[in-house]
Amino acid sequence: MKTLKFKNGDELFPIGLGTWKSKPGEVKEAVINALEAGYKHIDCAAIYGNEKEIGEAFNEVFSKGDIKREDVWITSKLWNNAHLPQDVEPAMKQTLNDLQLDYLDLYLVHWPVAFKPDVKNPEKPADYLTPQEAPINETWNAMTELKKKGLSKHIGVSNFSKQKLEDLISKTDEIPEMNQVELHPLLQQNDLFEYCSNKGIHLTGYSPLGSGDRSDGMKQENEPNMFEKDAVQKIASKHNASPAQVLINWSAQRGTAVIPKSTNLGRIKENLEAARLQLDKEDLKNLAQLDEHYRYVTGKFFEVPEKGYDNIYDE
Ligand code: A2P
Repeated sequence: MKTLKFKNGDELFPIGLGTWKSKPGEVKEAVINALEAGYKHIDCAAIYGNEKEIGEAFNEVFSKGDIKREDVWITSKLWNNAHLPQDVEPAMKQTLNDLQLDYLDLYLVHWPVAFKPDVKNPEKPADYLTPQEAPINETWNAMTELKKKGLSKHIGVSNFSKQKLEDLISKTDEIPEMNQVELHPLLQQNDLFEYCSNKGIHLTGYSPLGSGDRSDGMKQENEPNMFEKDAVQKIASKHNASPAQVLINWSAQRGTAVIPKSTNLGRIKENLEAARLQLDKEDLKNLAQLDEHYRYVTGKFFEVPEKGYDNIYDE
């Protein structure tokens, strides 16, 4: 399986464990199971509300000694209420403390949207800071300081459109190394992928399985189910694989990282084993045809035009 290569020589195994929606009470065991099953890549975020428990898993596994901290790639993300430059390092230190780590492999700006420091989940426009009040380039400059201090080996962003990346790059000195966005056969984002590849920005795909466990409030009516798509099912049975493995392998084989979430031991193993699959040209052609630009995570929940956030994905 192709790894993602970084300028300093670091390599990232593309299939990681996602932890968004992994419940406290379940996530510790899921992370321990994943690391013991051979996962080398765990994706976290402060807002998922489970970093303390994931930290217990890391502590337990790394203190046993069979699996070493330096052999695992750990990502986390800066929440939207810590964009002001003076809040960036404290937020990251809280994450490091919760995860019981002294460095991250990758730290991402979670969304191109800023909230007031005391707001975790905004309820009204007044809970937001405008892009003028919290310029994203200043947040980014604070992120670059974390890298200089060795607190994170790599830094990047999440949910950034090409337009937002171009704007950030034009105002700052360091190009993000990663952009984590929603990616799967129904939302292939070929233009963004091409732009990022040309700039040396890797992509990580979230919601690769369609995130069926989102809360009802985050779902739209009649959402498509990727597991049931004819092409996915046919390719799965042709290779004696599961539909989930086809979706995961599609991402990894394409050269992006991918972070399927599971807290179920069997599915955690199944998802990593997707690395063994070899999709052929015909499979890829059939999967390419599924692109309908369908987003499971619309981003609409953060669109507040009066605060300067009117089109999260610029489309
Ligand atoms: P579970 O945690 O019970 O395994 P996404 O990664 O797109 O956010 O999707 C996560 C959802 O997909 C969860 O509901 C998760 O359930 C489910 N899931 C994870 N792996 C598989 C799999 N191999 N087959 C079917 N469903 C899966």
